[in-house]
Amino acid sequence: MLIGSLVLMGILDLVLLATTVVAVIIVVALFMLLMPGIARAEENSQAAMGRLGATLESSLQAIRTVKASVAEDRQIEKVVGEARDAQLHRVKAIRYQAFAWTIAFSGIQMAIVAIMALGAWRVSQNAMEVSSLIAFLLYAFGLMFPIMEISQGITSLQSGFAAASRIRELETMKMEAETPVLAMPLHMEPDQSHALTLDNVTYAYSEGTQAAVQNISLTIPSHGHVALVGPSGAGKTTLFSLILRFMEPDDGALYLNGVPFSAMTHQEIRRQLGYVEQETPVVPGTIRENLTFTHTDVTDEELWDVLREVRLDDKVRSLEHGLDTSLLDTPLSGGQRQRIALARAIVRMPKVLLLDEATAQVDGITEAAIQACIRNRAQRGAVVTIAHRLSTVIEADRIVVMDGGRIRATGAHEELLTNDTLYRELVEALRIAQPPDSEAA
Ligand SMILES: Nc1ncnc2c1ncn2[C@@H]1O[C@H](COP(=O)(O)OP(=O)(O)OP(=O)(O)O)[C@@H](O)[C@H]1O
Ligand SMILES: [Mg+2]
Repeated sequence: MLIGSLVLMGILDLVLLATTVVAVIIVVALFMLLMPGIARAEENSQAAMGRLGATLESSLQAIRTVKASVAEDRQIEKVVGEARDAQLHRVKAIRYQAFAWTIAFSGIQMAIVAIMALGAWRVSQNAMEVSSLIAFLLYAFGLMFPIMEISQGITSLQSGFAAASRIRELETMKMEAETPVLAMPLHMEPDQSHALTLDNVTYAYSEGTQAAVQNISLTIPSHGHVALVGPSGAGKTTLFSLILRFMEPDDGALYLNGVPFSAMTHQEIRRQLGYVEQETPVVPGTIRENLTFTHTDVTDEELWDVLREVRLDDKVRSLEHGLDTSLLDTPLSGGQRQRIALARAIVRMPKVLLLDEATAQVDGITEAAIQACIRNRAQRGAVVTIAHRLSTVIEADRIVVMDGGRIRATGAHEELLTNDTLYRELVEALRIAQPPDSEAA
């Protein structure tokens, strides 16, 4: 419509067409000037909406802490503040848009007034017929609709661009490579005697900060139980994250059965590992879904066996829906959740079982049961535990003491007791924290 009208206007009168074109150019130029402002306002508005959602969700997730700290009002204030912020940005974006449309609309109106004045003058000078002027004006009115459409389209495009640029931020994130970086050397035979080898591994969470683990060299035999001990912040969980290849070491290399990590995909490595996290170890869903999360083909018989091992069989049997009880609406205790996570990891023994504080939340009797199943698994594969419990530590075939991101000492319990002061202090502290009978377990 725009192009057709302009062509016909040109056939009728070139002078008036030039006036129209100048008016359209001015409108377009003003529009271009406003566009960056609209784009920025849209981006701010969308970011503010995102913040509002995040604040609301995290407040609801931590609702128990919020209530216990009598912080409801403060938290509501914070959410409302974010909502107000989002509103301000939204209103600003809409104002920009309205301003742009006003410019487009009044630009066309002004052009029509100018056409009328100039046309009337040209008719009085006999340079143009009245009929041509009327026809020209009709075409000029016809321009209004397409120009308004285009300007509205361009402003909505800005909000689309803003959303797209936020989505594109995801694309710039580094992805885990799907193919190995390194081809597997042909002569290389998997070495079954060592499940895991860490060779001089160093990792810092960000550049310029102190490395969370430094020059770690460690071999985990294919069978047996290795315990990692050390004060909080020593780098134990970081070491597990490196073994699970959640990140790549800054320096050094890791090997699984003698094969370098770089010659395997992330999934190939993780399929051979079992992991129980330090925090939030259950996934949303039923008990059965949680237990079959790693191996989807596990039978019910295996599930009951493993539940018996972690002393949860009676509890699960007492639930109305048994294995199909949803963990969302059946609040299990912290220790029970932890045991569900443990059961998931040990239902089929992986090559290497990584347990981060798996017995932190259980009583002495359950702990003894869990220890028995760890012992049993250690005969079938490698078990690495991060333990704050003396009984778990003493059970281990080898103990690795970490401090400040480094390995301080390795050895058996008795050996470390005589040789390492930090270990002695840790053990002393644990002895006080625990009833003496659980040590015997
Ligand atoms: N995601 C992270 N980003 C930045 N620094 C981190 C991150 N996670 C851990 N750190 C830092 O790395 C160091 C080692 O942390 P790590 O979680 O490995 O300790 P830990 O030995 O598991 O301690 P804990 O016994 O308390 O669980 C700490 O100083 C910690 O502040
Ligand atoms: Mg930790």
